[in-house]
Amino acid sequence: MSDVVSVRKEGAIAVVTIDNPPVNALGHAVRSGTFEAMAGLRDDDTVAAVVLACAGRTFSAGADITEFGKPPQAPGLGELVDQIEAMPKPVVAALHGTTLGGGLELALGCHYRIAAPGTRVGLPEVKLGILPGAGGTQRLPRIIGPVEAVKFIVSGEFVAADKALSLGIIDSLADGDLTEAAIAFAGKVVEEGRPVVRIRDREDKVAPFRDDSSAFDAAAAKATARARGLEAPFACVEAVRGSFELPFEEGIKKEREGFLKLVAGDQSKAQRHLFFAEREAAKVTDMPKGTRPRPVAKVGVIGAGTMGGGISMNFANVGIPVTIVETSQEALDRGFATIRKNYGISVSRGRMSEDEMERRMSFLAGSTDMNDLADADLIIEAVFEEMDVKKTIFRKLDEIAKPGAVLASNTSYLDINEIAAETSRPGSVLGMHFFSPANVMRLLEIVRGAKTDMDVLATAIDIGRKIKKVPVVVGVCFGFVGNRMLKARSLETEQLLLEGATPQQVDQALVAFGFPMGPFQMGDLAGLDIGWRIRKAMGSDSDGGKAEIADALCEMGRFGQKTGRGFYIYEEGSRGGTPDPEVEALIVETAKKHGIERREISDEEIVERLVYPMISEGARILDEGIAQRPGDVDVVWVFGYGFPIGKGGPMHYADRIGLKHIRDRLAYYAERSGNEKLKPAPLLETLAEDGSGFAAHAKAKAA
Ligand code: CAA
Repeated sequence: MSDVVSVRKEGAIAVVTIDNPPVNALGHAVRSGTFEAMAGLRDDDTVAAVVLACAGRTFSAGADITEFGKPPQAPGLGELVDQIEAMPKPVVAALHGTTLGGGLELALGCHYRIAAPGTRVGLPEVKLGILPGAGGTQRLPRIIGPVEAVKFIVSGEFVAADKALSLGIIDSLADGDLTEAAIAFAGKVVEEGRPVVRIRDREDKVAPFRDDSSAFDAAAAKATARARGLEAPFACVEAVRGSFELPFEEGIKKEREGFLKLVAGDQSKAQRHLFFAEREAAKVTDMPKGTRPRPVAKVGVIGAGTMGGGISMNFANVGIPVTIVETSQEALDRGFATIRKNYGISVSRGRMSEDEMERRMSFLAGSTDMNDLADADLIIEAVFEEMDVKKTIFRKLDEIAKPGAVLASNTSYLDINEIAAETSRPGSVLGMHFFSPANVMRLLEIVRGAKTDMDVLATAIDIGRKIKKVPVVVGVCFGFVGNRMLKARSLETEQLLLEGATPQQVDQALVAFGFPMGPFQMGDLAGLDIGWRIRKAMGSDSDGGKAEIADALCEMGRFGQKTGRGFYIYEEGSRGGTPDPEVEALIVETAKKHGIERREISDEEIVERLVYPMISEGARILDEGIAQRPGDVDVVWVFGYGFPIGKGGPMHYADRIGLKHIRDRLAYYAERSGNEKLKPAPLLETLAEDGSGFAAHAKAKAA
């Protein structure tokens, strides 16, 4: 048989096993091997039924994503699924691990499905910017109905085995050894003369929707409510609609067309890039193979403010006990009350039970004595951004932390090396920079100091994954990757106002680009006073370009949402702001003061002047080795700042539109304004000149 597919027989039951580590992706060798095996078994009279199983940690997790964009090789996955479905003898799929995408579609071509407890199934194609392209949009609705199917496919979420059983996606849960259970199941099907169930022939779940699709339309609208700007979720809806509007074969044809269109499009390329970039970002090029993370069974967090509380929740969520230290009982009580309130919101929305909330709270302990962190394996400092305060804390930690403890700072821009130098163990110190709200945002910038030990770095990456974050290893510089680029984006925000744009126009232009919100909305949400205080302490230019308007607003006590007024006005209890004529008057007056004649500014100019300086800063970050690869920068911006996933992150986006164009536009804006800071970065200049891109440059460098 083939290298990746084997067949064995137990009496009259044949077992076909796919063995293609790590996740049994359905690449060409697997497809052709399985096709050949099935063809042989179809004609083998000694075989009464077939079990299809996978070796290793999971049943197939889907198509081999690395094959997308390459010329297709027969047999296609759809062809294989059809062949299995047409088998004259029962085929039973034995599922375990994460049965996803094409893996689940393969299983839906089988006549029965049995799963090990703990199995999760899903069609996550939408997250790669595509739709299930091997019959999933036609077969799944025939089992669970178009309403459930559209929710399932548009969300791309995984469903646990018991839910899959109740939905009818699987027929049985295995007791004990999965393959044995599947063989026994197949034997019983044969013995009882049960039919060969071909899902394509089932009409009962889809037929009612032909006359009245209103329930489907409502479910589809709800499922796509937050899919603004993305093509795949809407294409998924249309494909599922085909399951009841069209005969099976035509539905498959429509699905195929949708798949081929999406897979060739820019959005899917961007999302596939992010899939691999996310996994690569945590890999450290010079980390020796076999570097083992230190065990982390107990965590300490210093500071029970917004960040400290959010950070602690991440650990409680996965059952790791945390001791939170504050300077006063009052501050501790406030912090705990906020954590409880945050969990309470999940409870009130039905996403968590009261018991679960209490269970998670039980992992959190409070203390006003730092000595209580003596037995913690990882200590994360999350106090306000003042170097002296941080240094004092790390000196104290050096005295009390046990040998081997990892000491992390959640600083968002301060020098980790300076902090580490306060201790006698700089090798154990690094940055773990969470993003607000820390219990929600998935990005974790892991800041590697000059002396950080490899196993300490490995520990931060490992624990980052365990708490379900997306770790990205970055180097030390002011603001690291994310905030340093954010600062570059701020260069022009207020200047645009002075030249003629309104806050709402700037925000809307970025929202239309795909960001969840624009810079002024973000400022109002985060609190304008934060930047104002930093600027006052460190000089006017410390957090970006001019912030004259923001400073003036702060002087008026307008700090943003928390004071009901900032760049916008917020009605009591509302998070959506309305434009304020007073702010416009302030802008007009300030422009006049500087002799700036205001004019009409296009949305295109707004996007270019905000996004291109970020890209240029990203180029500097790469040049300096602060980020290891352009994909790392993309992951930071997508997971930490809401850069639109359909554009793949700033560096991927830059490659797509062409570095020459970006270089030229920046050079133009720099020349026009006389602002040197807008000049394209040297690496951007060079690559633009060579006609190259960031990805190509990184690949050449790695080779
Ligand atoms: N194709 C190619 N490589 C894949 C892959 C796939 N479908 N799924 C995972 N991998 C690779 C990863 O890139 C990673 O490689 P490296 O070790 O070199 O970084 C390795 O397998 C292990 O993956 P993870 O690190 O993600 O392991 P995990 O245990 O954390 O997660 C998983 C496992 C849940 C399966 C996760 O990898 C995942 O979600 N995979 C993608 C699943 C998916 O989207 N399937 C649909 C594919 S599209 C499709 O099937 C289209 C169709 O309809 C025909």
